[in-house]
Amino acid sequence: MDYNTLAYTYQTPLYVYDLDKISTQFESIKEAFKARKSLICYAIKANSNLSVIHHLALLGSGADCVSIGEVKRALMAGIPKYKVIFSGVGKSDDAIREALKEDILFLNIESEAELSRVECIAKEMSKVARISIRVNPNIDAKTHPYISTGLHENKFGVDIDQAKAMYIFAKNSPFIEPIGIHFHIGSQITELEPIKQAAQKIAQLAHSLLALKIDLKFFDVGGGVGIRYTDEQTITPYDYAQAVLESLRGLDLTIICEPGRFLVGESGVLLTKVLYEKYNGQKRFVIIDAAMNDLMRPTLYHATHQVRHYKSEQNTSLCDVVGPICESSDFLAKQVALPPMESGDLLVFENAGAYGYSMSSQYNTRPRAAEVAIHNGEVRLIKHRETFEDMVQDEKTLLQTFIDSDKSNETNNG
Ligand code: LLP
Repeated sequence: MDYNTLAYTYQTPLYVYDLDKISTQFESIKEAFKARKSLICYAIKANSNLSVIHHLALLGSGADCVSIGEVKRALMAGIPKYKVIFSGVGKSDDAIREALKEDILFLNIESEAELSRVECIAKEMSKVARISIRVNPNIDAKTHPYISTGLHENKFGVDIDQAKAMYIFAKNSPFIEPIGIHFHIGSQITELEPIKQAAQKIAQLAHSLLALKIDLKFFDVGGGVGIRYTDEQTITPYDYAQAVLESLRGLDLTIICEPGRFLVGESGVLLTKVLYEKYNGQKRFVIIDAAMNDLMRPTLYHATHQVRHYKSEQNTSLCDVVGPICESSDFLAKQVALPPMESGDLLVFENAGAYGYSMSSQYNTRPRAAEVAIHNGEVRLIKHRETFEDMVQDEKTLLQTFIDSDKSNETNNG
């Protein structure tokens, strides 16, 4: 089905994902690591739709989760618990308890305080918590500062010396079993060197931990491989895997890698329709029915998503493509060349499969978009468009209780 028909059938804004493209990406990364035991744990924050996760589960993927909600999504979508890992700097007691109850592969620990909490909770539950420690290698991933995570100035992980002390503590605790070592230096990485350096640094640490009889089994290299949004030079899965494998020489560990964007980014597009055109003085605006609440990336990171249209290329001129939200930060593209647009014309924002819908919100009381997936030529609705009722249902019920209690207070006081 072509995009115009999809937009007509499901209305816009609409996310469309090509599941076959996701399969190709998954196979390419799996193939690149075939020389070693490896587990690909899809970072489900990139696109958390249950059908997308399920598709990856069928391909053999595990899941990298960053909240207990994501852990539940992963399990619900059919990822086996022994392939689920749970990272994040701020896990609550309840989240830790639930993860231990679910018996997932391991928790990625990001501070000494968290390690103590996990020990305490595991003891309460008479369990042994399998853990990995996220090490912050203090390496610049050379990406946007908001998605750079491997420097000491970032909140993530612990430094190498602290990590060593934590592993020793963990080894000596009857309630903790340290089985992994982890780093993740950032997202949308397009240079191999920082990944190489980080992998080497962490591999050195792994050697010294093994020498201390800390029985590591997993070497988790995080995610971060970038995709081509415009003209970036990207890293091939082969080169990426080679860089990691090189640093792992002499270490008999299973590699875990946590790609998010690489698996789903290029599979998705956001379809949107033009509402109006307008000029403010000389400046041209094309106003569309999608907004920053649907696709946050341009606003948040000044990210570029190429925009495609179905008109003739004649008489193009530069314009900002903006949404209906009451903020000047509400743009999906700045200064792009488009031909004259009419109400109802379709625009396609490319490479929107990662961090698109998953970062969307209801800001300005805008219902979140619908999502469809295409698999073997078949189109399936995988998320309904939200309705106004969906958005207000809970508040409406609570408002009624509020009004009723005000009324009864009035009656009692009167
Ligand atoms: N593992 C960990 C521990 C992570 O924090 C992340 C992403 C990943 C794996 C997956 O990274 P990826 O392979 O997708 O680069 N919202 C931003 C990206 C934030 C990434 C957060 N962590 C964006 O739209 O660019």
